[in-house]
Amino acid sequence: MDLLTIGDFAVRAGVAPSALRYYESQGLIRSTRTGGNQRRYQRSELRRVAFIKIAQQVGVSLEEIRDALSALPENRTPTKADWTRLSARWRKRLEERIALMERLRDQLTGCIGCGCLSMKRCQLINPGDQLSLTGAGPRTLLGE
Ligand code: FES
Repeated sequence: MDLLTIGDFAVRAGVAPSALRYYESQGLIRSTRTGGNQRRYQRSELRRVAFIKIAQQVGVSLEEIRDALSALPENRTPTKADWTRLSARWRKRLEERIALMERLRDQLTGCIGCGCLSMKRCQLINPGDQLSLTGAGPRTLLGE
């Protein structure tokens, strides 16, 4: 079994050792201890950390990440099938986020329906802030 020290693991994962300890305290990753009570990580835990980092970069909360990782087996290294199941659960969530980011990329130069009425196009897209009737926030960006 390929076990890594917290230092080697942190370097390979691209996170600080303190982040690893935090992820562990949140039940997101696991380690074993040596006789001298030092952490040792299985190499397979690197995939979990990579998943956590990327998910956080696209704005997914730790709560959602924990929920997703809870679908993986506790007592063995997750297989491709395990990750496929997780990915299937997340597909809709990720597609919504991708769509939101695409709208942000494509619509930021125009009216986003936020109620500011500060742009010429607001008069066309959101006259008198009528989009406020559909709810709070940037209505067109939210896809309303
Ligand atoms: S950009 Fe704010 S209402 Fe149009």
